[in-house]
Amino acid sequence: MFYPGHMRVHVADHPLITHKLTVLRDENTPSPVFRQLTEELVTLLAYEATRSVRVSEITIRTPVTTTTGVRISEPRPLVVPILRAGLGMLDGMVKLLPTAEVGFLGMARNEETLEPTTYAERLPVDLSDRQCFVLDPMLATGGSLGAAIDFLFARGAQDVTAICILGAPEGVEAIQKQVGDRDVTLVLGALDERLNEKGYIVPGLGDAGDRLYGTV
Ligand code: PRP
Ligand code: URA
Repeated sequence: MFYPGHMRVHVADHPLITHKLTVLRDENTPSPVFRQLTEELVTLLAYEATRSVRVSEITIRTPVTTTTGVRISEPRPLVVPILRAGLGMLDGMVKLLPTAEVGFLGMARNEETLEPTTYAERLPVDLSDRQCFVLDPMLATGGSLGAAIDFLFARGAQDVTAICILGAPEGVEAIQKQVGDRDVTLVLGALDERLNEKGYIVPGLGDAGDRLYGTV
């Protein structure tokens, strides 16, 4: 699928990711396994998502000689899980990016109107020059992720990379339209077929929050 505009869309294409996704989708997979797999998948997707993380050159001494290398630049990247389901992705992400700062956004989708509401926000006030990594397992209509992206740019974020386990074409298109020429990258474990009449991703994996944490 071709999406014009500035946004980059990367859909994983790796047998290990597809294998783990298959188990994740299976309705018989219990919460503990679902949580473990989500964490593993995020670490694999984060490898791609952090490809453009800013680094600065440094000089170090090995036991043998002096050489140059890199370290992650200041200001440090900001990782933003979208509660509730995005929390299941946090450990897998910080494993790969241990020096990142973490901020939180709480959003719930009204299951009738499919409109998101923001019920919690704990982010640095000023995000100038920050690279932000948003974590949300499901990109369905794109309402939640779109609101999160707007929020971060309104605070001054330099660029936003969203990591989603599954995306629907409808959601990718909605985000594409919304972001315009802002610097946004989308990294997906898989691009699924469509949304059903209830706004669920097909074939999908059901309600990610419920499968991670049980029904609230
Ligand atoms: C789910 C999911 C996304 C959102 C996707 O969260 O984790 O945040 O729905 O749907 P959208 O693309 O149509 O906005 P939900 O609102 O169910 O909250 P939860 O994480 O607390 O379960
Ligand atoms: N949110 C979910 O958890 N699953 C979907 O399929 C769509 C939105």
